[in-house]
Amino acid sequence: MYKLVIRGGNSLIGNIRTSGSKNATLPILFSSILADEPLKLTNTPQLTDVSTTLRLLMDMGANFILEEDGSILVDASNLNNLVADYSLVKTMRASILTLGPTLAKYKKAKISLPGGCAIGTRPVDLHLNALEKMGAKIKLNNGYIYASAKELKGAQINFDLVSVTATENIIMAATLANGITTISNAAQEPEVTDLIHCLNKMGAKITGENSSTLIIEGVGRLSGTEYNICPDRIEAGTYLVAAAITGGCITVNNIEPDSMRSVIGKLIETGADIQTNKNSVKLDMKGRRPQAVDIRTSAYPNFPTDMQAQFVALNSIAKGSSTIIETIFENRFMHVPEINRMGANLKLEGNTVVCKGVKSLKGANLMATDLRASASLVLAGLAAEGSTTIERVYHLDRGYEMIEEKFKMLGADIDRVQH
Ligand code: UD1
Repeated sequence: MYKLVIRGGNSLIGNIRTSGSKNATLPILFSSILADEPLKLTNTPQLTDVSTTLRLLMDMGANFILEEDGSILVDASNLNNLVADYSLVKTMRASILTLGPTLAKYKKAKISLPGGCAIGTRPVDLHLNALEKMGAKIKLNNGYIYASAKELKGAQINFDLVSVTATENIIMAATLANGITTISNAAQEPEVTDLIHCLNKMGAKITGENSSTLIIEGVGRLSGTEYNICPDRIEAGTYLVAAAITGGCITVNNIEPDSMRSVIGKLIETGADIQTNKNSVKLDMKGRRPQAVDIRTSAYPNFPTDMQAQFVALNSIAKGSSTIIETIFENRFMHVPEINRMGANLKLEGNTVVCKGVKSLKGANLMATDLRASASLVLAGLAAEGSTTIERVYHLDRGYEMIEEKFKMLGADIDRVQH
C-alpha cells in the first residue's frame, strides 16, 4: 500500500500538460466492441480505470497493444465471451458501458450489476428502460443483467434524468440498431461529444452533438479508425484549483478552455487572474488568499459534480462564507469530515456544505475515499501548514496520471511512500 506525504505551504508555479480524458477514453474503448476492425486511440491517459477497461475487454475476447507513443490499438471485433464479470465491474462502474455495444453487436450480453458506490446508490434503470424500448428483453438475476434482443430497433428515448453513461450506452446501442433512435434530454458533456465524434469516424450516423437531442440512424456495420482523445477537463480544473488554493501561478496546457467555462468562471470569482488561450489557461493568484465562491453542481454546461470536492477544499481556506450545493449525487461529501480534521469550518446540511473560510489548515493524517474526494484532500494538504498524509492513494490513480510527478513539477513537496 502507498500513501502520499505532502508538506504544505509551497505556492505552485510552472507549466503542466493535461492528459487525455478518462471519461472520454472509457466509453471510446468500449465502443471498439461495435467495430469490425481495430481502433487506434491516441492521447489516452495511463490510469487504473483504463487498465481495468482493457482487462475487461480482454476477458471478453479482445486483444490490445500498448504502443510506444502511449497510444492503444484495441481489437474487440470478435468477442467470444459476452459476460462482464462482477470481479471487474465492482471496481469500476463505467463497466456498464459494455452493455449497449455488446447487445447491439451480438444480440445478447450478461453484465454484472454495478451496485452502489461510495458517492451514492447510482442505479442503472435509465440504461435498462431505454434498451427495453429498443426491443431488448432484460432480466435481473443473481446480481447480473441478462439482456437479449432478436433485433434492436430505433426508438424515441426520453431520459427523465440527464445521465452521462446512460446517454453513451444508448448512443452505442443505437448505432447498429435497425432504424432511427432519438434521445431527448441527452447528456451534453464534452466526453459524450468525443464519443460521438469517434463513432461517426467509425461510420456511425449521429447528429445533434452538443445539444440535448441526439438522432442516431442505425447502420449495418462500423469500421476501425484512429482517434485522438480530448483533454481531461477535470484534471485540468483540479490543477487550476491547486494553484488558486496555494496562491500560485500556473499554466495548464493541452486543454479545451471552452469545455471548462463554468469552472473558469468560478476561478475568476475567487479573485484569480485568468488568461485563456486556444489550448491553455494561465491562472495567477498572486500570493493572495482566494475569495469564497458559491457553487451548485448540475449537468454540463453547468458546474460539474466532479469539481465539487476541489472547491470545498478551496472554500475552506477562502475569505468569507459560502455554500456548495450538490444536486447530482446524494452522498458525495466524504471529503468534508476529513478537511474538518485539518481545522476547516464546514457544516453539512442535507445536500449543502456551509463553509466559513478559515485562515489556514493544519496538516493531518487523512483517508481517501473516492477519486474526486481524494483530489480535494491533496489540494487541502498542499495549502495546509505542516505535513499531511493521505492513505488509499489507489483512488487517485484511477483518474490522475502521474499525480505526484505533475505536482512536483509545479514545486509541490509531495512524495508517494510505501507503508
Ligand atoms: C458520469 C461520470 C462521472 C460524473 C457523472 C456526472 C463517467 C465514466 N463517469 O458518471 O465522473 O461524476 O457522470 O457528471 O463518465 N442515474 C439514475 N439512473 C440511471 C443512471 C443515473 O438515477 O440509470 C442518476 C445517478 O444516480 C445520478 C445522476 O443520474 O444521480 C447522474 O448520474 P450519471 O450521469 O449517470 O453518472 P455516471 O454516468 O455514472
